[in-house]
Amino acid sequence: MSAPKKLFIKTYGCQMNVYDSERMSEALGGQGYVETKSADDADMILLNTCHIREKAAEKVYSELGRFKKLKAKKPDLKIGVAGCVAQAEGQEIMRRQPLVDLVVGPQSYHRLPEMEEKARSGEKVLDTDFPEEDKFEKLKRRPMAKRGPAAFLTVQEGCDKFCAFCVVPYTRGAEVSRPADRILTEARDLVERGVREITLLGQNVNAYHGAGANGDLTLAQLIWELDKVDGLERIRFTTSHPNDMMDDLIEAHASCKKLMPYLHLPVQAGSDKILKRMNRSHTAESYLRLIERIRAARPDILISGDFIVGFPEETEADFQATLDLVEEVKYGTAYSFKYSTRPGTPAAERPQVDPAEADDRLQRLQALLTRQQREIQDSMVGREVGVLFEKPGRQAGQMLGKSDYLHAVHVADCDREIGDLARVRIVSSRTNSLAGELIE
Ligand code: 5AD
Ligand code: SF4
Repeated sequence: MSAPKKLFIKTYGCQMNVYDSERMSEALGGQGYVETKSADDADMILLNTCHIREKAAEKVYSELGRFKKLKAKKPDLKIGVAGCVAQAEGQEIMRRQPLVDLVVGPQSYHRLPEMEEKARSGEKVLDTDFPEEDKFEKLKRRPMAKRGPAAFLTVQEGCDKFCAFCVVPYTRGAEVSRPADRILTEARDLVERGVREITLLGQNVNAYHGAGANGDLTLAQLIWELDKVDGLERIRFTTSHPNDMMDDLIEAHASCKKLMPYLHLPVQAGSDKILKRMNRSHTAESYLRLIERIRAARPDILISGDFIVGFPEETEADFQATLDLVEEVKYGTAYSFKYSTRPGTPAAERPQVDPAEADDRLQRLQALLTRQQREIQDSMVGREVGVLFEKPGRQAGQMLGKSDYLHAVHVADCDREIGDLARVRIVSSRTNSLAGELIE
């Protein structure tokens, strides 16, 4: 038998890319590949790219440039570009960078085995179609591969919202939900392999409307189906749009024990003028009232968000409205970005904010968000939380896990194993983690 070929995948961007990289690795496993952690000994290198923020394509070109020497040493090395940059700029990548053998968009990963064969025979291959067939059906997880206790599971992909700054509707395509039975089968299989926590993924996950036995299921109905899976202890979902936060999902946060008290609910900005120009179709007020309803259902829920500062035509007063909204909501964690233009999106053509001004706003917003994050983390001290242990800590006898609220928690002198779910009392708060002790 010939030695296995080695695959090096570098993943950028969101959790969906992490999920996709696992599926690509499994698809190529059937072609005799095993993963390696080093590009130097790879027979195939795949960059799973992200197009959401600044200079994504330029970063891909500079990363590819670094493989030039490797390829000179090893002419059989195949280099592929996957993900959203591949989708958006595949043709251009092929034209501009002769090192690249293969370009594959997010909707075509199930075709990787055939593409790899073609690339091996010396062809250049590009597939950025949005095919009819179900890629998930063709990308089944490899049986029996062992895995950690927390896993991602894609339930929905694409987006129909067309926020004026965002490339997702173009790179991932129209919103598509997977049928519920396939998701449940995948979830049961994950649980058999040791998974205790599943995060349901979708660019617009709460718009989920996958087919069930008696018509389409909402995300809440899907969560209640997953709630029945024995051995599955925790359910999370991300990312949600405020306009799709339906009553039954809010109610699930009140009554579903397995659904964790954490919600990533991006608002992007606090000024109604800017929200309108972003095509967000909600107002600051409607978002705040929504947060109130969610907190009425689950008072301890930790809210997380995304923000863009320096969106075209954002004035200092508009930015102030974002700070005011943040003050009111109190975010447990948040991601904030300076607006950057994405060619082909509506906002790219509009008058841009002075970059120095945008930098200054980003710093001010991040200072506020960091303060809030720290306050909420500190408020955990003395509280009892559930912790799912994911790996040993750096010190002997220490274990590291995630709390119900997704905080990283260290426990010293811990006799629990990876995959155990324990009750823990938080004893101190550090910069980016909490320390706790087991409650017997
Ligand atoms: N510029 C800056 N941030 C962006 N995001 C999406 N597109 C852009 C852009 N063009 C941010 C949004 C989104 C997150 C995933 O990335 O806040 O919620
Ligand atoms: Fe992009 Fe999210 Fe808006 Fe969809 S809802 S267009 S993914 S920012």
